[in-house]
Amino acid sequence: MRDCDIKDITLADAGRARIEWADRDMPVLALIRKRFEKERPLEGVRIGACLHVTTETANLMRTLVAGGADVRLCASNPLSTQDDTAAALVRDYGVSVYAICGEDNETYYKHIDTVIDFKPQITMDDGGDVVGRIHEKRREALQNIIGGTEETTTGVIRLAAMAAANELAYPVIAVNDAKTKHFFDNRYGTGQSTLDGVIRLTNRLLAGRTLVVSGYGWCGKGLAMRAKGMGCKVVVCEVDATAALEAYMDGFEVMPREQAAKVADIWITVTGNLNVIDDVCFENMKDGAIICNSGHFNSEINIPWLEEQAIKKTTLKPLVDEYTMPDGRTIILLAEGRLVNLSGAEGHPANVMDMSFANHALCAEYLLDQAKNMQKKVYDVPEAIDEHIAQLKLEALGVHIDTLTPAQVEYMNSWQIGTV
Ligand code: NAI
Repeated sequence: MRDCDIKDITLADAGRARIEWADRDMPVLALIRKRFEKERPLEGVRIGACLHVTTETANLMRTLVAGGADVRLCASNPLSTQDDTAAALVRDYGVSVYAICGEDNETYYKHIDTVIDFKPQITMDDGGDVVGRIHEKRREALQNIIGGTEETTTGVIRLAAMAAANELAYPVIAVNDAKTKHFFDNRYGTGQSTLDGVIRLTNRLLAGRTLVVSGYGWCGKGLAMRAKGMGCKVVVCEVDATAALEAYMDGFEVMPREQAAKVADIWITVTGNLNVIDDVCFENMKDGAIICNSGHFNSEINIPWLEEQAIKKTTLKPLVDEYTMPDGRTIILLAEGRLVNLSGAEGHPANVMDMSFANHALCAEYLLDQAKNMQKKVYDVPEAIDEHIAQLKLEALGVHIDTLTPAQVEYMNSWQIGTV
């Protein structure tokens, strides 16, 4: 059996069944896996992945292994690991996994270090913790690495900051920025799975409730749209004028956070920023307000402030904590402020992760071929890969589209033809 640090290997049967269930809705990745099995483009390549250990990730791991890669996987969040999935990956799919749901911070970083010990040639990150660790504490690992991929907005922002400071030591492809990723995963995936997390944890009726969304980016748009569909009165808080205007014209009420605090029944942050729900919000909140986060890190809610100011903390059920304030009001925090869709539910549906992970698989193949010609920068996913994934997805869905006629191609490339 592969080397690992997981909760319980006897959970593997349940994990395998769920991985196969997810696979049924990941047709693009399945096609890539079939080709990889034949062509073995990743033969002998060591890949160190730090991703949410979910059934969808398992199908990416299977694809990389089918391509010949030797893969080690750790978690990109201490609460998102599905222990049964981890067990099946180790027992049945030839992947070394270092992840246990609920692991403390020390174990979380110990697991990242174990993946780095394996001298990966390609890194796959979700949030930039592996890249950050290698650059800050494990620089000896740099000599083996040819390139990496990054899954999420927050990770891409961190990488861009590293590149701007000339600190980034190898090329990384920003999978998040592929059209076939953020248009679908961030918007529809986060929209649906975040509400799923809130519902599973609270079983509250959403209809008629005021739901505040902080951040009207790709994730926030999907979340607001889905919450509206569930009958919520949706309020948006933003700091960017254009995003705020877009929210307003999409029909949502837009207001500053102090004001939103007074009306929020449920408040969800998806900004990638710090202390978005802060003292000015807590002080104005209604009794019993529910707060949670679906942005990458647990820094969007100022939990230390809440911990310090509250006179009592009661765990009502797992991942549902009630804080009693000195004036008697209660505030309910879900999932310790960590990604509520991955902690409270199962994360994004397989159908959108199909495209996100197809990007990782094809970018790993691309890096092997092209990394020698790339600089220590953050790169977009090559357009040909993005387009190919969109086409495969349409085919899998049985959706057909038009093609440009020769005259249309000529027209689109010319400037002479104006009013006719
Ligand atoms: P984005 O860049 O498209 O949108 C973020 C929005 O938040 C922007 O419009 C920005 O103006 C706004 N914002 C920033 N600071 C704010 C503040 N203090 N108050 C109100 N609004 C503020 O980013 P995207 O793709 O929507 O991602 C947001 C976060 O969600 C990131 O941390 C990302 O990594 C994470 N993410 C989470 C997923 C999940 O499974 N829950 C999936 C994909 C992304």
